[in-house]
Amino acid sequence: MFYKVALLGAGGVGKSDLTLRFTQNRYVEDYDPTIEDQYTKTFELDSHAVKLEILDTAGQEDFWHLIDYYLQQREAFILVYSIADIDSYRTVQQFAEKIKNTLGTEAPVVIVGNKKDLEECRKVHEKCEDIIREFKYSAWMETSAKLNDNVTEAFHELVRLMWKR
Ligand code: GTP
Ligand code: MG
Repeated sequence: MFYKVALLGAGGVGKSDLTLRFTQNRYVEDYDPTIEDQYTKTFELDSHAVKLEILDTAGQEDFWHLIDYYLQQREAFILVYSIADIDSYRTVQQFAEKIKNTLGTEAPVVIVGNKKDLEECRKVHEKCEDIIREFKYSAWMETSAKLNDNVTEAFHELVRLMWKR
């Protein structure tokens, strides 16, 4: 099974580190804003061979006009915010709205609150029930790319949501 997915979200929330952690078990402390990178990862999940082509998108606001292009290219999405950044949560709300209006409510979506290791800086207390309710195949979880906490689970959850379609 081969799926094309994308990570979307504001700049600096950890999309690249989540992708690197999942595909190569790497973590980069320095922030290097992404233009666009693509990774593939093959793995076994629930006795099925799965190949993911993962688009790691640009979160900087200058690139938000590309969202229509990203939505055309991909079938399932991980929407990432940082639990320490309320604006990044609002961006996820906007991107979710955009997905709903463009692809409809059957698009598989996993909402990820990253940087859960920064509990002392937490600004976002949402469990994203409002967004989750809008989509038929959706989930929410908190992760830490830094500590490798819940990262694999987020990608696996997205695959399982695609299977439920
Ligand atoms: P753009 O490419 O500009 O959209 O940013 P991005 O979402 O890809 O963010 P990136 O993965 O480059 O991470 C941005 C910064 O946050 C880096 O300095 C990372 O080290 C840091 N970071 C990423 N994930 C975590 C995490 O789980 N915890 C903490 N504490 N920092 C993180
Ligand atoms: Mg990046």
